[in-house]
Amino acid sequence: MAILKIARMGHPVLSRVAVPVSDTKNPEFLRLVVDMMETLADSGGTGLAAPQVHISLRVVIFKVSALRNNGEAFPLTVLVNPRIEPLDDELQVGYEGCLSLPGLTGMVPRHRRIRYWGLSAEGAPVERVAEGFHARVVQHECDHLDGVLYPQRMDDLATLGFVEEIRRAAEGVTEGE
Ligand code: NI
Repeated sequence: MAILKIARMGHPVLSRVAVPVSDTKNPEFLRLVVDMMETLADSGGTGLAAPQVHISLRVVIFKVSALRNNGEAFPLTVLVNPRIEPLDDELQVGYEGCLSLPGLTGMVPRHRRIRYWGLSAEGAPVERVAEGFHARVVQHECDHLDGVLYPQRMDDLATLGFVEEIRRAAEGVTEGE
């Protein structure tokens, strides 16, 4: 197992369209999934896509804590070759961050309700309906597989900023105080 280096915005691997996984039984693929799990745990992030660790394959992993998802937790999920379908036209705007844009956050519109499909790391079919934060995480991670980073989804780049500053502003702390 290994903690992998995370590519940051500007690295070409993050703009590429990733290639589908053809064989989930491949030991190299299984090692990638384990290394991604270890890398995500080490980073403290919510999700990670293979292109973020310089591997242009269609694999994402994520976990959803109950605290951020209206009390409903989803344990660590591996999605291979995922597909997403919005369930309606409703969009919801919320703050997102990304391990490839360390320290930054911005407001991103996403579909509020989606259905998604994929394979587990063992090659078993996965199908879920997701909403709110859970749906946001899946859309964010799957965007990485198409070379899209969250600022490209933002309506208002004025909301892009450093987490530390935005938090400070929200808490009403004025400079000089
Ligand atoms: Ni990301």
